[in-house]
Amino acid sequence: MGGWSAERPVSLMSGEGVAEALESLGHKVTRIDMDRDVAAKLAAAKPDVVFNALHGTPGEDGTVQGMLDLMGLKYTHSGLVTSVIAIDKQLTKQSLVPQGIPMPGGHIVSTASLYERDPLPRPYVLKPVNEGSSVGVAIVTAEGNYGNPISAEAKGPWQEFDELLAEPFIRGRELTTAVLGDRALLVTELKPKSGFYDFDAKYTDGLTEHVCPAEIPDEIAEACKQIALDAHRLLGCKGASRSDFRWDDDLGVEGLFLLEVNTQPGMTPLSLVPEQAKKLGMSYPELVQAIVDEALE
Ligand code: DAL
Ligand code: MG
Repeated sequence: MGGWSAERPVSLMSGEGVAEALESLGHKVTRIDMDRDVAAKLAAAKPDVVFNALHGTPGEDGTVQGMLDLMGLKYTHSGLVTSVIAIDKQLTKQSLVPQGIPMPGGHIVSTASLYERDPLPRPYVLKPVNEGSSVGVAIVTAEGNYGNPISAEAKGPWQEFDELLAEPFIRGRELTTAVLGDRALLVTELKPKSGFYDFDAKYTDGLTEHVCPAEIPDEIAEACKQIALDAHRLLGCKGASRSDFRWDDDLGVEGLFLLEVNTQPGMTPLSLVPEQAKKLGMSYPELVQAIVDEALE
């Protein structure tokens, strides 16, 4: 848990939740806040299995997975190759769109070019390719909220990044589906009380309503589950993953787009995978145990 990505605080919450659940089941747990000595700490702990509760780089991008592979340790969630692809939203598109998974178009732009011209017709979304929890995401509206094109003086989350993925903004609704093993769980609709489902809306209790199961037509719910399951299989995910969608409800099933697959989905008390599992009668400790069991197979 922990590490040094922008999602460190989220990972510490995920890790503590998981550790307490494992302890409640009678397992012996060593908590490791990842630093550069992580390999030495793991070697000393001699675990039967490593529960990876990291989010972002380098715990979700294949780096930690490669280290664990070299050390011969079993670990939860996806392996090296899957993680390398899934952490990168553009690589994910390049992998899944040719296989028939509907995802928005878009391309990589240099941040400097944004001050000269819009990369797409407005409204569009700017996002770093490999961050999570909406870190660095900006929606550039048709009204020109940052100037038109973005003015050199405008302050925005893109400033931290040299390159960004520009995608058309899909109006409508925010949906998400967890996959556990070979089963898609449910569809949750996220309804932020204001603005979009950004970092604060994700982790501040009360700022976003979670509607689970989502009140959407069966056809859309089934499509979310099928796409989430297909994406999980096509990318070779293990343990739990969570697929995030936008759905333009004016367009029926044609308006459903997968945004990304999260291979290290959040396990905090407000997180979506535990919430969907619970609605299906699986407690948080049972979910954690199921993820561990798959890693030990
Ligand atoms: N990146 C966060 C942790 C999530 O997908 O839940
Ligand atoms: Mg993500």
